[in-house]
Amino acid sequence: MTGTEPATHEIDTTRPHPARVYDWFLGGKDNYPVDEQLGRQITAIDQGALRAARANRAFMHRATRTLAEERGIRQFLDIGTGIPTEPNLHQIAQSVAPDARVVYVDNDPIVLAHAGALLRGTPEGVTEYVQADARDPHAILEQATRILDFDRPLALSLIALLHFIADEDGARDLVATLVDALAPGSCLVLSTMTADFEPENVRRGIDAYAAGGVTLVARSHAEVGTFFGGLRLLEPGVVSVAQWRPEDAPDGDGPISLYGGVGLK
Ligand SMILES: C[S@@+](CC[C@H](N)C(=O)[O-])C[C@H]1O[C@@H](n2cnc3c(N)ncnc32)[C@H](O)[C@@H]1O
Repeated sequence: MTGTEPATHEIDTTRPHPARVYDWFLGGKDNYPVDEQLGRQITAIDQGALRAARANRAFMHRATRTLAEERGIRQFLDIGTGIPTEPNLHQIAQSVAPDARVVYVDNDPIVLAHAGALLRGTPEGVTEYVQADARDPHAILEQATRILDFDRPLALSLIALLHFIADEDGARDLVATLVDALAPGSCLVLSTMTADFEPENVRRGIDAYAAGGVTLVARSHAEVGTFFGGLRLLEPGVVSVAQWRPEDAPDGDGPISLYGGVGLK
């Protein structure tokens, strides 16, 4: 494991953290009362919040499997990994290709604390964890190049990450910098929150996160589409994550307020 920010390795249990609130949404145990409190507040505003978390995770599974199976991708750079929740991305990728190489990146010390579970992969493959901030893409690239070959295609996944980073805090620059570093044949997989379907609930959710000190940004369909500028979107384009190549029957009714898509360089 490698790290760029040793000063941030302390777990702060006095305020909610996105990774831990998401863990609570997914039914995990690696969260604290402050995280559960915000999670409960969000589910009171939007009954669909737990479904949204599950739908997002399932999108990660399908997109990763699709890229490994259909596009032969064998290298994965996953930024904003979250607390391990099985199956993790490397388990999906290595179930298709045991020699797949995966680099995980997150800036939350709780993810670092649990990173051991992300490092248990196949003997043929490689998994590595980097503690770094997505807003410093050059530092991430520097560390990822030790494991991944940027002259060959790889999948860059930014799944449920970008709604924690406003454009003015560098969301667009970081995507542009990372995509620029990718070889032809690489893919960008992303999902991020939208207020297009349920504007009032999403606005109240944003306010609840803000009260807990967490920035949350909703983006329109057009705004999410521009993250894929210069890439060719795989079918079905940018859609609610539940509608991206669904395999199972819908998990309940109502919209899922996260757009997802996969673009090919
Ligand atoms: C909602 S979780 C998503 C986890 C996983 N990608 C998924 O979709 O299932 C968002 C993750 O992004 C991480 N994150 C938020 N801002 C970040 C930043 N600036 N740099 C790195 N990671 C960040 C959080 O710590 C959290 O683990």
